[in-house]
Amino acid sequence: MALEHPALPLEEPKATPTGAEPIVKTLGLTRHFRVGGPFSGRHLHAADDINLSIGANEIVALVGESGSGKSTVARLLARVYKPTAGKILYHGRSLGSMRTHRERLAYAGRVPMVFQDPYGSLSPVYRVAHGVVRALKLHRRELSGQQRAQEAERILKSVGLTPPREFLRKYPYELSGGQRQRIGFAQALASRPELILADEPVSMLDVSVRIGVLNLMADLRRKEGISFLYITHDIASARYVADRLVVMYAGKIAEQGPAEDVLANPKHPYTQLLLSAVPDPRAPVSLPASSEVAEPPRVIDPGEGCRFRWRCPYAIERCSVETPQLRPLRPAHEAACHVAK
Ligand SMILES: Nc1ncnc2c1ncn2[C@@H]1O[C@H](COP(=O)(O)OP(=O)(O)OP(=O)(O)O)[C@@H](O)[C@H]1O
Ligand code: SF4
Ligand SMILES: [Mg+2]
Repeated sequence: MALEHPALPLEEPKATPTGAEPIVKTLGLTRHFRVGGPFSGRHLHAADDINLSIGANEIVALVGESGSGKSTVARLLARVYKPTAGKILYHGRSLGSMRTHRERLAYAGRVPMVFQDPYGSLSPVYRVAHGVVRALKLHRRELSGQQRAQEAERILKSVGLTPPREFLRKYPYELSGGQRQRIGFAQALASRPELILADEPVSMLDVSVRIGVLNLMADLRRKEGISFLYITHDIASARYVADRLVVMYAGKIAEQGPAEDVLANPKHPYTQLLLSAVPDPRAPVSLPASSEVAEPPRVIDPGEGCRFRWRCPYAIERCSVETPQLRPLRPAHEAACHVAK
């Protein structure tokens, strides 16, 4: 099949030395959705004022319960959604300034997304080779047919599918869930990514194969220097693989910092609640039972005040009238809570 896409800029991504410009950085990134019809005037605040960054060779876990806005952040980074406000910088350059198809395609290759559902994300009518080779044709136009075949085999090996030739000939229905998810990563690798946005990549897999996919992310970071935004509602798996944790609640960042420090010294009551549900000796003392009554986050026109106040046992009057801002509480570790110390 002839591909109409123009050749890509093919220079190697520049390594980001520690402390240098991150791969992506968001500034006040916000996405609202209108709800209740065009004239209702009501808006769902899926992501509000998100400031996060992901550097070279880094695994950042974005953690939070269902509906907290994790996928919205990933889709904004992948340019599936347009921001309502704020911006995304890629190596310091605003995505909004990328005007040409060529630039946007190059960005999509450098920052691809891997989806939650390894069944839905692969076409059942094509062999594995089709998706990987198509991605190579799209993003690596300098390769000859023979080089593409070699590269497809190398990529399959790097995601642990050997012998690669055999796997390239298979159809998705001939693969297990874990193998399908590895194919999802293989397709992302074909464009030589710097950062993979992995949206709940293990949540639909059996517990027994989850660890293999988490190890794959760790391996790809170690061997190929690829960064990950690892999205999960499971803080236990985040603690296994991430360097940094970003905890979201009701469209806002509640807490972020080095994974070890956030886990050992969770500052935000919501992070404490998440950790109290994980059977681990390092988890802090559970919150009082009253806070464990599940209350859906209020994200439609939430107004001022802390969005966690309905569930928070430490809420004070100020929490109802003033939205807490992220503030540093430990080195590189910040939380958005009026009372956290
Ligand atoms: N396209 C959309 N139109 C309207 N509302 C949306 C849209 N996408 C997301 N939302 C809403 O935004 C909020 C955040 O959704 P999002 O999918 O980002 O949450 P999540 O943290 O990824 O949840 P989950 O863990 O269930 O995947 C939810 O209330 C959701 O209903
Ligand atoms: S700001 Fe108030 S309501 Fe929000 S988490 Fe802190 S104490 Fe609880
Ligand atoms: Mg999601």
